[in-house]
Formats: sequence, C-alpha cells, structure tokens
Amino acid sequence: MNTVESGAANPYLEGPYAPVTDEIVAHDLEVVTGAIPEDLAGTFVRNGANPRLPPKGRYHWFDGDGMIHGVAISGGKASYRNRFVRTSALTAELEAGEPLWTGILEPVDLRNPRGPFKNTANTDLVFHAGKLLALWWQSGIPYEIRLPDLETCGEERFGKDHRAGISAHPKVDPRTGEMMFMTFGMRAPYLSYGVIDARGELAHYVPIESVPGPRYQHDIAITERFTILMDLPMYADPEMLKVGKSRVRFYRDKPARFGLVPRHGADVRWFEAAACYVYHTINAWEERNAAGEDEVVMVGCRIADPLMGDPANPKLSHEVPSIGLQRLEPYLHEWRMNLATGKLTERRLGDMLVEFPRMDNRLLGVKSRYSYNPKVAHAPTVVFEGLAKHDFERGTDVVALYPEGWSGGEAVVCPREGSTGEDDAYVLTFALEHATGRSELWIWSAKDFGAPIARVKIPARVPAGYHAWWVPSSATASKKGTVIS
Ligand SMILES: [Fe+2]
Repeated sequence: MNTVESGAANPYLEGPYAPVTDEIVAHDLEVVTGAIPEDLAGTFVRNGANPRLPPKGRYHWFDGDGMIHGVAISGGKASYRNRFVRTSALTAELEAGEPLWTGILEPVDLRNPRGPFKNTANTDLVFHAGKLLALWWQSGIPYEIRLPDLETCGEERFGKDHRAGISAHPKVDPRTGEMMFMTFGMRAPYLSYGVIDARGELAHYVPIESVPGPRYQHDIAITERFTILMDLPMYADPEMLKVGKSRVRFYRDKPARFGLVPRHGADVRWFEAAACYVYHTINAWEERNAAGEDEVVMVGCRIADPLMGDPANPKLSHEVPSIGLQRLEPYLHEWRMNLATGKLTERRLGDMLVEFPRMDNRLLGVKSRYSYNPKVAHAPTVVFEGLAKHDFERGTDVVALYPEGWSGGEAVVCPREGSTGEDDAYVLTFALEHATGRSELWIWSAKDFGAPIARVKIPARVPAGYHAWWVPSSATASKKGTVIS
C-alpha cells in the first residue's frame, strides 16, 4: 500500500493531522472511564482530509481525500470503523497509481481533462431523506455513504440529475424536512441557491445574480421563512483574475453582505455589516424587537482579519493559527437584520477563540439557547484545546479543557432517546493525544456539561478532521429530521 510522504515538512501532514491508510472495523470498544449511556443509540460520523497518495505539489489541509470515522452506539456498547470516501476522483487516481490533481496552493490547472479541482467530498456530512451524504467545501456532487458500513454508494443528484452539486453546510429544517443549500463557482452565476424537499428531490434552484463575482462561500443559515446567504469581502483580486492569476485579498473598505432570500424565492434583500469573513454560522431565527419590528438574528463565528500576511492585521502578543493563507481568529458574534428599517446591527459575544460551533439541530431556524464551541488554542496550526458550552441567554461559557497534549474536534449534540427539549442530549467528539496517537470518543452530558461521562478508546489513530454528524437509530427509519415537540 502506498503511503503519503510527509517529508515536505508540511505541518498539516504531520502530528495530529498525519493521515492514516488502514481501514478497520472494531467491536465492543473499551470504555476507559465512565459508561456509555444506555439511552444513546445511533452513529457518530466525522469527515476529514486524509490524502491517500503523496500530494502533487504543495499540500493544503483542505486538499486531502475524504475519510469518514464512525462510532456506532447502542445498548451501552460501541463499535468503530473508518472508510475513505471512494469518490470517482480517488478511484481514478488509484487506477492511475498517481495523483491526478494539484491542490489549491498550486496554480489552477485549467488543462486538466478531468477538471481543475478534485471533488474529495472530505468536508462535511449531512443525513437527509434517509441518506448520509459526504460533502465538499468547494461545491461538488455529494456522495452517499451507506450505514452502518460507511461504504460509498455513489453520487447523489437529488432525483433531477443535479450536476452542479451542493456546497458543505446545507441546512435541514427539522420541521419540514427540507434541506436548503448553496452552490458556488468561478463562473457566473457565482452563487446559486436551492431547496431539496423532504423526499430528497431537488425542488428549487435559482441563480443569485446580485453576487457580482466569485466568492469563497462556506456556510448559510436558515430561519422559518428565510435562508441567509453571504457576500463577504475576501475574494480573488478581479484585476488579477483577468490576467489569469489568483491573488486572494481582504477588502476592508467593503461591507460584508448578508442576504435574506425567501425559502422558495429568488429575490435577495441584502444587509450590510462591517467587513469580515465567516466560516461557520451557528443558528438564525426571527423575532420581534422592543419597538415591535421584525428582526432576523444570526449567530456565528466572525473573523475580522482573515488573511495571513495582511499588513493591516493587528499586532498581537499571542499566536493565531493559520491554514495556508487563512488566518483563524474567530469570535462569537451576533448580527441583527431589521426587516422594518433595512439596517443591520452587530456585536461580539465573547473573547474566546472558537470555531466549528454546533448547536441542537432540532432547533435549527428557531431561537436556541446553547452552542458547543471548540476552543482554538494559540498555536501555529488549528488545534482545539477544549470545548466551550455557550449560553446565549446569560452570555456565559462553561469550558472543558482536554488534558495537556490532547486536542478534540467538532462536537455534535446527540439527543437522548426520549429527549424532551434542548440540551436533553449528549455531546460527542473525537479526542486525540498528539504524542502517542491515542484516540478516544468523548461523551458529555449536554445539560451537566463539564467532565465527560465516558471516554471510549478507539483502537486506531483518528487524525484531526472537520465536520461531524449524529444519525440517531430512529432517524434511519424516518425521512424527516427529529424535532422537539
Ligand atoms: Fe466547514
């Protein structure tokens, strides 16, 4: 079996990020401390970049092939397995015995007969209409992943031969079962918006003409009536693009724009905010303010200075992680869009660096109180040194730190069987000891957050990765998401 060369001294190919090559299955996992709750039943799955072949040219953490790590839990017992996402691109590379694409740090190869970019499906996971889908951050055709064995079933085109694909972070409305998504690209329309219905079929797909150029899109948010799209002032210099060169710039003098589009509509109402970049939203909802005006509220992680090497960045005494060009200094933030006045107000909600936030998805699109936010360490690369439970009502955090030398990942809210409300749930993530590669699944009580109630040993190294999902056993028999009644 070929292994990935890590001699290029790329920090994202070493230590906690070093890829694994073996695909294993292990049953009846050892519980190191505590006990797996009896009322937790389902599968925790997490995606991430795991290059199968040595990179062609410079490697960026976002380039690697998708690998899914899954822990199935039932009756107080757990089993683990990991599988590559067998994309058509990975299959072609394995047949060729060499990489066929360069990564995003190399010039875009428009002469590549297979297309300039490799859809790795390495970024995100969503369970919708009875299917688990692996998704790619640059917009691509999703891959269906079979449960429980995590084998790749093939491309998902939503019953309508939808070849434009979808980006990472579609949003499933637990009340209607619909999934809202966006697609973006280098050519007009630079942003499109769509809805997949509860049966998994494409029901709505429209170009968003008011986004004037290619943008680095990553996330959206939903409320009961609207989807929130973004037009953020970090993008490739349009003048350089005209001469075939790509130079990413952050335009501090331009506003960040958040656009409300009616769920099944096409007309966007844009609101202007201070320049920033946003990788991840947490939630959004509609409410009425004290003056009786309707507002759309969105909370998420805001980065004021998103590029490394920008001379306008503030001088800091502490280190801020980077991923290639990207500078990760995110803080919790709230944006309020006033539907009566057309004005947006915003405020920072905390002083802790946090990213990859998650909340109880049963409240997606309506007001929620808590989120679980991995705490970003002051380190040169992205390391989550703890997990912070944020209470939006009180503005407080409870922080659980990992032991020295350990880090964790995105933490998913997994409702207890018979759960009756927000936070009547467990919170799950993978944790990793960097020096030894020892990996564990950590389980917390959402309500009594603090020390984990169980640490489950994974008999393989689980490298640092990206986004995770919880597929409750009950959902595999239902076409809708679960909802708090
Ligand atoms: Fe993401």
